[in-house]
Amino acid sequence: MEFAATTATPGKFSSACLIVGIYEGNKLTPSAAAADEVCGGLIKRVLKGGDLKGKVGQTLMLQQPEGLGCQRLLLVGCGREKGLSDRNYRKISEAAAKASVASNAKDALCTLSELPVPERELDWRVRQSIEAFGQASYRFEQMKSKKSEEKHPLHKVNFPHTGRADGALVKLGILQGRALIAGMALSKDLANLPGNVCTPSYLADQARELGKRYKTIKSTILDEKQMEKLGMGSLLSVSRGSRQPARLIVMEYSGSTAKNKQKPVVLVGKGLTFDAGGISLKPGPGMDEMKYDMCGGASVFGTLKAIAEMELPINVVGVVPSSENLPDGDANKPGDIVTSMSGQTIEILNTDAEGRLILCDALTYVKKYEPDVVIDIATLTGACVIALGSHAAGLLANNDELAARLLEAGQKSGDRAWQLPLWEEYDEQLKSPFADMANIGGKEAGTITAACFLSRYTKEYTWAHLDIAGTAWKSGASKGATGRPVPLLTQYLIDKAKGH
Ligand code: BES
Ligand code: MN
Ligand code: ZN
Repeated sequence: MEFAATTATPGKFSSACLIVGIYEGNKLTPSAAAADEVCGGLIKRVLKGGDLKGKVGQTLMLQQPEGLGCQRLLLVGCGREKGLSDRNYRKISEAAAKASVASNAKDALCTLSELPVPERELDWRVRQSIEAFGQASYRFEQMKSKKSEEKHPLHKVNFPHTGRADGALVKLGILQGRALIAGMALSKDLANLPGNVCTPSYLADQARELGKRYKTIKSTILDEKQMEKLGMGSLLSVSRGSRQPARLIVMEYSGSTAKNKQKPVVLVGKGLTFDAGGISLKPGPGMDEMKYDMCGGASVFGTLKAIAEMELPINVVGVVPSSENLPDGDANKPGDIVTSMSGQTIEILNTDAEGRLILCDALTYVKKYEPDVVIDIATLTGACVIALGSHAAGLLANNDELAARLLEAGQKSGDRAWQLPLWEEYDEQLKSPFADMANIGGKEAGTITAACFLSRYTKEYTWAHLDIAGTAWKSGASKGATGRPVPLLTQYLIDKAKGH
């Protein structure tokens, strides 16, 4: 889908679908009022009919509005005029995107970015709208032999602006929004692919593709032999149980033009292309969803694509340790003790707590980049789904400044996180009588003890951990990857590149 800025006014612009907002109490937004004048009061007459009450997210599609240069007029309820919240602005955008994507319109003029949202600039409003169009138009049909016929005709959305200053903001919003939805789509595609297609080697190939496509990205893949040499005994113990060889995928994005080399932000994403639990086998129902156990890794791919598209002036290294976790004669057994790259030994009491086993070696590996900050992203614990549901990612960090920045980026992007404590009391739950630590900390506070485990490998740098077990995909009828937390990470990097 294409997005463009235009100075045409709603009355003059000719398009297949004009999208305007209507507040409660039959109050017209400026663009609705302008359109109403051109079409001889049609909107006011329709509103008197009472089919659209201006409630947030209500929509009404009118056909062939006389006098307007548009074949359709989509009225979108915007709620009360004063104090429109971020969330309601998003709901309005989503409703508009859904209705126009469902129509037969080929292009649209979306005027909703004119709605004032307290503390949010025009570029933010355009970007949020584009995200809604990206969401509404996303399809995953790679694995279907026949493409569905209902593929939406909508392929271009225009955003109006009134002058030079406005135009710059609209263009910035378009640039960032376009890049963001491209990154999210990549992240969703990789995540939605089944485990028999999306293997560690497949992910490695995708990294090579990114390296080919963007001259700012350099990809390097480490195979098992190379990992062995580095002493990654913890990571390799997980992949021993699988016929698919593990990969350590490294993607270096160099966007900074600073002469003295800027220290990178390092993103480390859990890339379990399937997690059956290993010998501590998971129960059968719903196990298919464990193909999504690489969503942390997918978000690293998506974020790198987004910032490469934006040509963001910052250096970022993406690292995705990737493996399967399956039961096998050679798989980890409960009670096994392995030695990580850091030299610390781990007693594996539950082979299903495998994410931390591959992440810890990747977290040790990234020290070589002398990172400014390291953020790992992982579908790490079922406990996080219980604690925060599907609305917020769990955030744990060894640095409050970094945590605050990430929370802020979550608020701004609408892809929120919520902080949990990393106290020593929790860390003590990881004691093992036989090794330096156990890989599980008991029933209580599973999200925190998992993060405590990781924190033992991140002492030498500023680090945060995002547990996305609840937010990365949806189950049930609308099963599918969400593309989260690409918006949060991208926002964080945009702010960081600005020199915060
Ligand atoms: N990938 C899972 C976590 C998970 C479970 C994410 C359900 C999303 C939904 C992870 O590898 C895992 O199995 N964790 C265990 C840890 C436990 C054994 C300490 C869990 O959460 O049950
Ligand atoms: Mn597991
Ligand atoms: Zn897992």
